[in-house]
Formats: sequence, C-alpha cells, structure tokens
Amino acid sequence: MIPLVDVKAQYAPLIPELKERFAEALESGRFIFGPEVEAFERESAAYLEVPHAIGVANGTDALVLSLEAMGIGVGDEVICPSFTFYATAEAIARAGATPVFADIDPVTLNLDPEDVAARITPKTKAIMPVHLFGRPAPLVELAALGQPLIEDSAQAFGATGVASEGVCSTFSFFPTKNLFSLGDGGLIACRDDEVAERVRMLRFHGSRDKQTFELIGTNSRLDAIQAAALRVFLPHLTGWNEGRRAGAARYAELGLGNVVDLPPDVPGHVYHMYVVRTPDRALISTALEEAGIASASYYVTPLHLQPAMRYLGYRPGSLPETERAAADNLALPLWGCIGADEQEQVVSTVLAAMAVTAA
Ligand SMILES: Cc1ncc(COP(=O)(O)O)c(C=O)c1O
Repeated sequence: MIPLVDVKAQYAPLIPELKERFAEALESGRFIFGPEVEAFERESAAYLEVPHAIGVANGTDALVLSLEAMGIGVGDEVICPSFTFYATAEAIARAGATPVFADIDPVTLNLDPEDVAARITPKTKAIMPVHLFGRPAPLVELAALGQPLIEDSAQAFGATGVASEGVCSTFSFFPTKNLFSLGDGGLIACRDDEVAERVRMLRFHGSRDKQTFELIGTNSRLDAIQAAALRVFLPHLTGWNEGRRAGAARYAELGLGNVVDLPPDVPGHVYHMYVVRTPDRALISTALEEAGIASASYYVTPLHLQPAMRYLGYRPGSLPETERAAADNLALPLWGCIGADEQEQVVSTVLAAMAVTAA
C-alpha cells in the first residue's frame, strides 16, 4: 500500500530523540506554556524571519485569533479563495465578518489578484490568500491592492516568501503538514507589535497576567509536548521540503506529464500536496486504488457552494476557475522521503490506465 502521505516514514528516524525530549518534559512537569513553547516560538520566528511567532492550539484558531487581533469582525468583509480547506472561510465567519470569495489563477490555483481587485468594496478589511498545496501565493501583487494581508500558510511552512507580507501569517501543524506536530498545533507569525500583543492575550482569555481580563478571548494554547516535537522537527524541515521538491521533479522525469497536467514548478514551492489535473481522474483514481495506491481529490465542493456558505448567495458558475479545479484535481502520493520505486509504481499505474483509455 502506498499512502498519500507517509508521516511516520519522516519521523521514524527521530523517534529516539523524540523519546528523550518527552522524557525531559515528563521530568519537568510543565505541560502548558513554559520553556519548550517559548523556545519553539523563538526558533520559528527566526526561521520565518518575523518579529513574533505565537503558538496556538491549531491552524483554525490561528486564523480566528489573527482576525480578532486585527479588529476585524461584524460588518467587515475579507476576500479569500473558495478553492481551499473550509477553515479559511469558516474562520472569517467565526470572527463575525463576511467571507468574499475570489476566483483562482488556473495555472497556480492561488488567488487571482485581478479578480480580488474587482471584489474590493468600502467594507473590505483584509485579503486572506492561501499558499495552496505549498505554492507561494502572489503576495506582492495582492499587497499592492492596498489591503492588509492575513496569509493562511497552513500548507506552506518553509515556502519562499511565506510570512513576508501578511500582518499575520497562520500555520497548522496537523500531522500531514510540511512541519507537523504529533496532534493538533498552530502558530501565528506576526509583523505588528500591537497585533502580536493582542494575539497573546486572546489565546489566554484576553489576559496578560492571569489576574485581569481585558478582552473576550479563548483558550488556545500550543502544548509543551507538541512544542518539544516541533523543535525536533524544525531543523529537518528544509531537508523534507527539498525531498518533496525532488519527488515532484521525479514525477515529471518519469513521464507523468504525458498523460495529465502537472503542477508547474516555481522555486520555493514546497509541494504540501502533489496535485495534477486531469479530465480522467475517476479512471485514474480507480486504477490507483486497485493497485493499492492512495490518491485524493481536494475541495470537490468548493467553499462558495458548501451548505454553510449558502447565505452568501453564490451559485454554480459564480467562480468558473475554482469549479474547474474542483472537478479535475487529483493529488498523488508525496512526502519528504518518498522513494523512487514508490513513484515509479504510481506513474506506471497511471500510464497503464491511460493507455487502456487511448486504445
Ligand atoms: C488552508 C488551511 N487552512 C486552515 C487549516 C486549519 O488548520 P487546523 O486543522 O490545524 O485547524 C488547514 C488544515 O487543516 C488548511 O489546510
């Protein structure tokens, strides 16, 4: 069986080191905040080259807390893609604001800055690009539109340019992510001192000192145990991302591009997912499944057509490129240390399935 992502293959060589760190955590008796979380916040801020990095419970909270800390809520609009995980738009609605969906560039699958520009109104308070599948979103073009950016970077830790423009840039450490924890975890990278201070308060009930409660916040903390694991993994991230890039290049070398459209490469793309496009995805995914190889289609019902977003009034046809990508994308196996033999099996299965159709 070849999985879509083999997380364990990535961390298996690090299990002895993880055990040591967990033993230290058990000895310390500190599980909430404390030195491990602070050290991870410092190390990730240095990696991302931002002044503040704040650990939270997951990537969804990271988005909600960023919006709240930036003062975005009822009556405000935030422009985001519809071709993304539901949490992107859900967080905007949870903060009390209105998600405004813009279409994507058909080549990059990231927000199309021209379509975003057309959707800016006096109520727009931010743009929330997603670095989809690990590909850097067009931050410079989006920033030029004059609205603050909140980067949903859940899928793109380590991608070039990530966290370079956003007031806040949010990360998820869900175990399949490029940088992952061994459970839930999240992070907000922040370039604004005051917003960072509010995020720190909001993640702990709106308090600075556990005595006085100045804001309506929540409880959203990164566990010390997860921070310990993340500190073991962070030094390996660049190597894992290089492994993903090498795997993507190998798919092209093996001739996969003869039968499906490959994701065009750009330097700094970290291939959170390796997503091809094909009108024959049902046939290909069935052939892969029969061969014991996992594949997946993402965001098959894009967010503007999800039942919970019906109140926003979008219809089929509202976002043509989004709907096309929803209909023809297919993710193939890729992770930081995928083997050439595994990729050869994937490609030969896809080529054989397509040869049958061509015959
Ligand atoms: C683009 C995107 N945004 C937000 C999230 C939410 O992160 P979490 O699952 O950690 O809440 C995810 C992933 O799960 C995601 O892929």
